[in-house]
Amino acid sequence: MKLQNDLILRAARGEKTERTPVWLMRQAGRILPEYREVRSKLGGFKELVESPEFACEVTIQPVDILGVDAAIIFSDILVIPEAMGLPYQMVESKGPWFENTIKSQSDVEKLRIAEGADLHYVLDAIKLTKKELNGRVPLIGFAGAPWTIFSYMIEAKGSKTFSVAKKMLYTNPALSHSLLEKITASTINYLKAQIEAGADMLQIFDSWAGILSPEQYREFSLKYIAQICDAINGVPLTVFAKGAFFAREEMSKLNCNVIGLDWNMDIAESRALIGNEMTLQGNMDPCLLYSDFKTIKSETEKMLRAFGPQKHIANLGHGLYPDIEKDKVRCFVDTVKEFRF
Ligand code: CP3
Repeated sequence: MKLQNDLILRAARGEKTERTPVWLMRQAGRILPEYREVRSKLGGFKELVESPEFACEVTIQPVDILGVDAAIIFSDILVIPEAMGLPYQMVESKGPWFENTIKSQSDVEKLRIAEGADLHYVLDAIKLTKKELNGRVPLIGFAGAPWTIFSYMIEAKGSKTFSVAKKMLYTNPALSHSLLEKITASTINYLKAQIEAGADMLQIFDSWAGILSPEQYREFSLKYIAQICDAINGVPLTVFAKGAFFAREEMSKLNCNVIGLDWNMDIAESRALIGNEMTLQGNMDPCLLYSDFKTIKSETEKMLRAFGPQKHIANLGHGLYPDIEKDKVRCFVDTVKEFRF
């Protein structure tokens, strides 16, 4: 089906666009009362993720309510460990939790390499959402980067330091690599299945990139992201590695179309390090959206000018926080959509 709005796909491929496209990480979710209502009907986050009809409904909400130029499928990066044999729970107001973690090589051996079919509920949600979107905007699929997934599988939950996961890198690099290899193979199968189901574009989230040293990042993260990039063909691919300011130059060699920047990364410096080939995405501090409308507008315009008119996809430097008001989010989106160079 022909897309009525393909701005984000054209920007990702480096083609000319009439204006900068915009979407937001974590646009589907708790900032919308409409989301909270659907969620309360079902009881929990996992129930939502696993029911294609509801996942489709909350995926489309931000397109209707915020006017963004893309939808992102409502799911979570942690569906991959679960498909490999390590189930997660989403604990209310705490976040993810794994009852079992990976402690030994035999734990790694017990894991399966996930196939697309193991995640049929996500694929069904993608198919249904494509149908319901009816070509209005492209649909983004996603997965976690192997290092970020590894962190949760070792650590059991979120952490400020992820020191249990990092300890594994230092004390058992062989186990670490064998686990990262299995996650990478699973992720490639999963992303290919998302393309087949209809995803128009893909993003890899390396949320915990910034806690590794440059050398460790190269060995335990970038290497596996590069394998994924090389295996994925046919749709534009974005790599967002939060905190990986030290890896920007190396990331320009990845076989992907877009590099996501966080708000700590200077825009002109990033462009110089990454070069002119790739499209950049980002990178407003989500906390800007706590300020007044006038400031949001002027700071957003400043960001747009710094990126320039082409090869930019406007976004935040990380996901929206749950207590950001939706009118402030709309102000960010509208400012981007109204701006002309
Ligand atoms: O709108 C979208 O961006 C699509 C949906 C999406 C979710 N999670 C839904 C979600 C996406 C792309 C993710 C990715 C994700 N999940 C990441 C990478 C991006 C990032 O933020 O760094 C990570 C690290 C996770 C793991 C995860 N899931 C955590 C740490 C948490 C708890 C903290 C939090 O933000 O609430 C989740 C829960 C989660 N994933 C929620 C949503 C809407 C909140 C659940 C709820 O209370 O309804």
